Amino acid sequence: MAFVTDCGILERGLADSALAGLKEHGIDVWVFSDVVADPPEAMILAAVEEARRQVIDGVVSVGGGSSMDTAKLIAVLKDSQQALPEIYGVGLVSGGRLPLVLAPTTAGTGSEVTPISIVTTGTAEKKGVVSPQLLPDWAVLDATLTTGLPAAVTAATGIDAMVHAIEAYTSRHKKNPLSDCLAREALRLLSANIRTACFDPGNIAARSDMLLGSMLAGMAFANAPVAAVHALAYPLGGHFHVPHGLSNALVLPHVLEFNMPEAIELYGELAPIIFPGLAGRDPQGRAAGMVEGLRALAPQLGMQDKLSQLGVSHNHLPMLAADAMKQTRLLVNNPREMTYEAALAIYAAAL
Ligand SMILES: NC(=O)c1ccc[n+]([C@@H]2O[C@H](COP(=O)([O-])OP(=O)(O)OC[C@H]3O[C@@H](n4cnc5c(N)ncnc54)[C@H](O)[C@@H]3O)[C@@H](O)[C@H]2O)c1
Ligand SMILES: [Fe+2]
Repeated sequence: MAFVTDCGILERGLADSALAGLKEHGIDVWVFSDVVADPPEAMILAAVEEARRQVIDGVVSVGGGSSMDTAKLIAVLKDSQQALPEIYGVGLVSGGRLPLVLAPTTAGTGSEVTPISIVTTGTAEKKGVVSPQLLPDWAVLDATLTTGLPAAVTAATGIDAMVHAIEAYTSRHKKNPLSDCLAREALRLLSANIRTACFDPGNIAARSDMLLGSMLAGMAFANAPVAAVHALAYPLGGHFHVPHGLSNALVLPHVLEFNMPEAIELYGELAPIIFPGLAGRDPQGRAAGMVEGLRALAPQLGMQDKLSQLGVSHNHLPMLAADAMKQTRLLVNNPREMTYEAALAIYAAAL
């Protein structure tokens, strides 16, 4: 059995009970703990190569999105003739995979229920493998794994999950009644608990709701894919190693403002779920209140809220906008058509 995680998870003892359980059942385990955040292609290829030398009949992962995404690709590529670059894109995986069990330690990506793995290629570009084979056999939610998450990681990963739900709710082509239900319930759980999870980290009820919320948000965007917030966030992760959730938070209010002409009605529906105090306003007032509330949320949770705080300067903006425009897989889902000029203006506003 392959056990995929990162060294921080191992050091914190978060993998101990899962490893002990496997041992108790006499299962031989090969531990791969070299996962790096925002998994680089070279790391995935090295993991797959090593996995091919091992006797493995399944893959278990305990970790954040980076570990789970790596585990999914090991399960798919271990016995495959396909090279990793051949499967970037939608529906390009042929063949099956090894049995796969995923247990998240962050309440964020929802990777435990999505058919997606995100890889950082040599050019600092984030590419997605999107195929049904990447859905696991089991997703195991254990809130005790998340009580040790530092506030900064709780906030960033929690906002990532909220963005999954918001973008699923306004996704242009595949939004449907089921993804809407999942997105609304995810947002209710995440919005009501993100502050408690950050400031009272041992609160197991809040942690459970965050984990459930992030999973439901994962199911929502597995059906109705995410859009421009993620497309503009990815180049920040690729070039500046900004954590995925933080990069989403940095561009979120600016992308929502840009989308407003096309998405005002849907934002108006979500607003009172995220901020119950907005319920009395008219749809326009609710949508505007939601954008303002989300703009205020990042600093309230102790997060940076300007690109300049992370080493980004004016000179970088054309490169970021050009890279964001390469995320065509995501941009087609945006409620308003994104252009290079609009992306540039959004980054400038976020600076
Ligand atoms: N597959 C998908 O559907 C999907 C969706 C969204 C994002 N992603 C990808 O997931 C990755 C981000 O994953 P992530 O945000 O979960 O973080 P991560 O897996 O990159 O981990 C970030 C850091 O948090 C630490 N950490 C994780 N759990 C911890 C815990 N319980 N206590 C203390 N520290 C802990 C890790 O050791 C690591 O140092 C990115 O590559 C992103 O592109 C994938
Ligand atoms: Fe995300």
